[in-house]
Amino acid sequence: MPAPAAGTPLADNPSPPARAGPAGVRTLRQDRWWLQPVISGSVLAAFIVYATWAAFKNADFYARPYISPFYSPCIVSNCTGRAPTVGIIGTWWPISPALAVLIFPLGFRMTCYYYRRAYYRAFWLSPPACAVAEPHKRYSGETRFPLLLQNVHRYFFYFALIFNSILTYDAVMGFRNTAGQWGHMGLGTLVLVVNAVLLWLYTLGCHSCRHIIGGRLKHFSRHPIRYRAWGIVSKLNAKHMQMAWASLIFVGLTDLYVRLVASGWISDPRFF
Ligand code: FES
Repeated sequence: MPAPAAGTPLADNPSPPARAGPAGVRTLRQDRWWLQPVISGSVLAAFIVYATWAAFKNADFYARPYISPFYSPCIVSNCTGRAPTVGIIGTWWPISPALAVLIFPLGFRMTCYYYRRAYYRAFWLSPPACAVAEPHKRYSGETRFPLLLQNVHRYFFYFALIFNSILTYDAVMGFRNTAGQWGHMGLGTLVLVVNAVLLWLYTLGCHSCRHIIGGRLKHFSRHPIRYRAWGIVSKLNAKHMQMAWASLIFVGLTDLYVRLVASGWISDPRFF
């Protein structure tokens, strides 16, 4: 069979190049290539289970002055009396306030280029690892619905900036005591601050952020400030995988900490 013309889309290519070694052999790799997808799949699955439970719990998400990042900002009026509220959505919202806001950070992470690689490998085995053949017969990449929608990532990036700013504000509010006076710092304050810092490090290392700052420029020399910012963002971008995991795990731990304090399981140690 003649080779397809150069430029033929993979989806339309009747005979894509061989993706495996000898017939019946999925890979020639001898190392434990399966370990990374197993670990990343397990951590992602654990986070999904915990976050779903916490989002539907609709309780114990505020321990003055700390609010869980899963519930902030509380834009549903049924938060009133339970947490600082920005009542954009009225009392008609019948379910947990977390479900009104989580779509944005969730959408940002779901469409993140790094997470895509992680969960395509872990859950769809597409492919499970480098130089390991995938079990699927056809490959269309992200050229078709629904994976085509992954392109909305750049828009979720702007929402992530808003949410990070709000969670940073929450961390600053953690320096007030239960009476609303400044000058307090407890372990919860530190937890909220670290959570906000990790979220910024993750978000500013985003590929879309790097493109927004340094993309479409013909001459960096004519844009010294953008060039400098692009250099910083590029360094963060090189650590994007690490920041993705650190911020994901820590945001879950932050919710857990607030939850444990709010439900009375632990008390918040005060530094001053
Ligand atoms: S690429 Fe990961 S957050 Fe944008």
